[in-house]
Amino acid sequence: MEKEKIRQLVSQMTLEEKAGLCSGDGPWKTKAVERLGIPQMWMSDGPHGLRKQENYAEKPDINDSLPAVSFPSECAMAASWDRELLRETAGWLGRESQVRDVHCVLGPGVNIKRSPLCGRNFEYLSEDPYLAGELGAAYVQGVQSEGVGACVKHYLANSQEKRRYWNSSEVDERTLRDIYLPAFETVVKKAKPMAVMASYNKINGTYATESRDRLVDLLRGEWGYDGCVMSDWGATHNRQKAVGAGCALTMPGEPKTDHEIVTAVQAGVLEEARVDEACEQILQMVYDGLEQHREGAKIDYEAEHEAVRIAEEQSAVLLKNEDGILPLKKGSRVAVIGCLAKEPRYQGGGSSHVCAIRVSTPYEALEALGELELTYADGYPKITTRRSLTSADFETTRVFAADYAPDEALIKEAVALAKDADTVLIFAGLPEDMETEGDDRDEMCLPDDQNALIREILKVQPNAVVVLQNGSPVELPWAEDVKGILELYLGGEAVGEAAADLLTGKVSPSGRLPESFPFRLEDNPSYLFYTGTGAKVEYREGVYVGYRYYETKKMPVRYPFGYGLSYSTFSYSDLKVSREVLRPGETLEVSVRVKNTGSVAAAEVVQLYVGCRKCEVLRPVRELKGFDKVCLQPGEEKEVRFTLDERAFSYWECDKNAYLMAPGSFAVQIGKNAHEILLEHPVTCENPDNAPAKSKVEVVMYG
Ligand code: BGC
Repeated sequence: MEKEKIRQLVSQMTLEEKAGLCSGDGPWKTKAVERLGIPQMWMSDGPHGLRKQENYAEKPDINDSLPAVSFPSECAMAASWDRELLRETAGWLGRESQVRDVHCVLGPGVNIKRSPLCGRNFEYLSEDPYLAGELGAAYVQGVQSEGVGACVKHYLANSQEKRRYWNSSEVDERTLRDIYLPAFETVVKKAKPMAVMASYNKINGTYATESRDRLVDLLRGEWGYDGCVMSDWGATHNRQKAVGAGCALTMPGEPKTDHEIVTAVQAGVLEEARVDEACEQILQMVYDGLEQHREGAKIDYEAEHEAVRIAEEQSAVLLKNEDGILPLKKGSRVAVIGCLAKEPRYQGGGSSHVCAIRVSTPYEALEALGELELTYADGYPKITTRRSLTSADFETTRVFAADYAPDEALIKEAVALAKDADTVLIFAGLPEDMETEGDDRDEMCLPDDQNALIREILKVQPNAVVVLQNGSPVELPWAEDVKGILELYLGGEAVGEAAADLLTGKVSPSGRLPESFPFRLEDNPSYLFYTGTGAKVEYREGVYVGYRYYETKKMPVRYPFGYGLSYSTFSYSDLKVSREVLRPGETLEVSVRVKNTGSVAAAEVVQLYVGCRKCEVLRPVRELKGFDKVCLQPGEEKEVRFTLDERAFSYWECDKNAYLMAPGSFAVQIGKNAHEILLEHPVTCENPDNAPAKSKVEVVMYG
């Protein structure tokens, strides 16, 4: 609906009606205003599948929702490094929303993975703001291209679950601008999401839902955002302050506090104009959602299942492949060990939980291929949930690796099978209640029973491949001793077929880690400060998050950001840059050639980093500023091009309150990953007048 009509509608509403509209009708809908014929719209989680809860009032069980296709979690999708794949996959989510009469999907989550411990890392994309922003924007474009809104979340600096309702993230402005804000900025500017969700936490002492500087000055003023801001569920603490700060919609419904807005306006402490602005945002969202709704839409769930299989196949990361142990040889005897092969962990716990339509298991899928001689043993006890995911008090029921004691009998049985096989495939991973919304992990370990199993198997069988299912990095103490490691992350409902195709070489793995895997938790830069004390968590590592720290500190990691192997090999050549000196307002064209030098078709992720050689400003030695995924037949070569502008070389200068391209010498670097740079070209930045950098993000319209 046009803005003017919305304005007229709001002008006809009473103050009470307007105050009422500013909170939902129950958990998932906006309020209708019958007198004026204002309809309501429906919102549902979530990031990796639709969690539509029709009867929440009668059955408030987070895990009880309508059947829906379960997509690879964001941690997995991000590992694809493939914008187009995210767009396409999210398009399915949009179509499914049309079928279920959902007008806005509550996702994607683009919070930065500050620590491997965050309980919701599986719902987030990356430790890197450029990657998270690009992929988050593609996701929103995909959902919105189907006439359904997307709600990017959780804005802002919400990188932990512990004390999430009242914790204050203490972050300096440069760190916010260089690390925690850009993913939101990119999503907002490139993809125009229907909504933005303000997070639970405080930012430097002010609740996100009450931060007018972030919700209005920055989001609307600087970034030009035009959509609706809503609170996370239960994140509004003061209705008057929230509306005053530009958080238009409080979710879920808060009928008991709607009057506070009326009282505040009558008392003169809240301008009615602010309430009008909030209602305009909400009604714009409602009418946009309803106008694009396709009544009676249909979907082919089997085709969607196929799409999520492809998504997982493009996302899994091959971490190790010694002696070419993978792909598995046809006709070989393979011992499949581990309950996760038969009961995969394919999604995380909490509000993103989906009641999947058809989950395929790796064991069944391998069996269905009929190419291998398979045997199977559990290896460790079935993974049962040890605490209630709806429990309000996670902290008293926390689950540790040591809670999973090795089962000697199961290990013995598995070892016997493994000994007689050509290769052993060990399925390992984190139980759902070790990483879930509402709490963070305390350690980065796999359960003790799984580590013990792997150690015992290695005593009798060197040809061991570990297949991992987890939403966040884990310590891999046996990594030197196994020959293969395949990281599936949380692969969605088609994880079985995807795993089988990857393990047998139907598809070459092409995922790359969207986060670093440190050797030990203690190596992580946030280790000493995560998750804070009392009501505060200080982001003392500043801009040195993830690989920005490891690379600058020259600290070895188990697997670096951007890392991943293939069944093929690639060569790079001909790195060219269009200019040696970059000045304000100019752009830099970069090109590089990449060739598939192996014998199978495979995809490579070309990664461009801007390396800092000499600059007055303290900054990470290297930052990702471009990437592209290219599919290449054996022997095929392609040129990949990038355009960099001054923002790619800039940092946030607090004194100037602007991004600034600092003078200095830099290098355009093409890397296999953040640690392994293959080609580089020097570039000098000149900025004698200290001119603020223009944003490189262009506004693109979709949908
Ligand atoms: C989560 C959000 C989610 C909302 C609705 C909250 O607890 O933080 O991500 O969208 O619930 O389920």
